[in-house]
Amino acid sequence: MNFDTMDESSPQSPMSPVYDPGEDEKEATLRPRYLSEFQGQQRIKENLLIFIKAARERGEALDHLFLMGPPGLGKTTLALVVASEMGADFKPTSAPAIEKPKDLAGILTNLRPGGVLFIDEIHRLKPAIEEMLYIAMEDFELDWVIGQGPAARTVRIPLQPFTLVGATTKAGMVSAPLASRFGISLRLDYYAPGELASVIRRSSRILDIKIEENAVELLAGTSRGTPRIANRLLRRMRDFAQVHGEGVINSDVVSNGLARLEVDALGLERLDREILKAIILRFGGGPVGAETLAVSVSESVESLEDYYEPYLIQIGMLARTPRGRVATPAAYRHLGMEQPHENGRLQF
Ligand SMILES: Nc1ncnc2c1ncn2[C@@H]1O[C@H](COP(=O)(O)OP(=O)(O)O)[C@@H](O)[C@H]1O
Ligand SMILES: [Mg+2]
Repeated sequence: MNFDTMDESSPQSPMSPVYDPGEDEKEATLRPRYLSEFQGQQRIKENLLIFIKAARERGEALDHLFLMGPPGLGKTTLALVVASEMGADFKPTSAPAIEKPKDLAGILTNLRPGGVLFIDEIHRLKPAIEEMLYIAMEDFELDWVIGQGPAARTVRIPLQPFTLVGATTKAGMVSAPLASRFGISLRLDYYAPGELASVIRRSSRILDIKIEENAVELLAGTSRGTPRIANRLLRRMRDFAQVHGEGVINSDVVSNGLARLEVDALGLERLDREILKAIILRFGGGPVGAETLAVSVSESVESLEDYYEPYLIQIGMLARTPRGRVATPAAYRHLGMEQPHENGRLQF
C-alpha cells in the first residue's frame, strides 16, 4: 500500500508584539522532555505519572489522551513528554495537515508499537478522517476501501497499539463521539506567577542568561499565565540587557523593556487594550459579537477567541454573554476610563 508522506504544519501564532518568527526553533531547546522538567501543573503531572507508570508496568500503550487549553500552556510539550516517558516514538501532526484518509493511514501504519501520535487542533478534523480515527482508537484497526464502484470492498488493516494525544484550544468544538474515545482528558490552566517564575529560571539556565530574582518575578507577573510568553519575554529582555544594559536582566531592564513592548503591568499587550477600548468606546461597553469586534481591531476571529479573549476573561476584564462580549468594570478601571452608569447595557 502506498500512502503519501505528509507535512507537519506548525500551529499559527497571533501577531502579538512579542511574536518571534524564528521562535519554534529556539523553543526546541527550551521544551521540556520529561515530567520532571515540566514546571507547574502539579495535579496533571501527578496523575499522568501514575497512568504512565501503570501502562509501562503492563507493557501497554498509554490510553488516548485529550489535552485542552489556551495556546502556549504546554499541550504540545506534554504530548512529547508522554512519548519520552513511555520510551515511545513521537509523531506530531495537526488536523489540517491530514487531508485524506491515506494521510492518516500512512501515519498510523508507520507507527511502532506504543507510539504516540499527536494531533494538534483536533477540533479541525474532517468527518471522514474522524470516523476512521474512531476505529483506529478503539480497535487498533483501519477500515480501508480497495477498488472502486461495485468491485470496491473494505479490508481491515490491523495496527500496532498506539496512543493518540489530541490537543485543542476549542474543547467545545470537539464532537462528543471523538471526545468520548479518549481515556484521559486533561485541561491545562493558566500558570500561577510562581510556576512561571520556575519556567523563567529554568529557561535562563538553559540559555545561560543572567537574570536577577526580582526581574524573574516581574516577568512572571506579566507573562499572561503562559510559559510560551514567559520564554518570549525572557529572550526580548536578554536583547535589551545586552544592548542597553550590562548583560544582566534586572528589574530596570524588565520595566523599560516591557514599556518598549507595550506590555503593561498586568501583562496585557497593545491589542488586549485595543480590544477592551473598542468594546467600550465603539460598542458602548458591549455586548458586541466576536466577528464585529475582531474586524474593528483588525484581528482574525481565531486569534481573538483563542488567544486574546481567554486571558482577558481569566483576569476578569471581559465577559462572554449570550449576546456578545462585554467590558467589565475592571476593564474600565484598568484603562482609566469612566464607566457610564445605569445605561442598562452593562449586565453580566
Ligand atoms: N510546564 C512547562 N514547563 C516549562 N516550559 C513549558 C511548560 N509548558 C510550556 N513550556 C514552554 O512553552 C512553550 C510552548 O508550549 P507548547 O507546548 O508549545 O504550548 P501549546 O502546545 O499548548 O500551545 C514550549 O516550547 C516550552 O518551552
Ligand atoms: Mg501546540
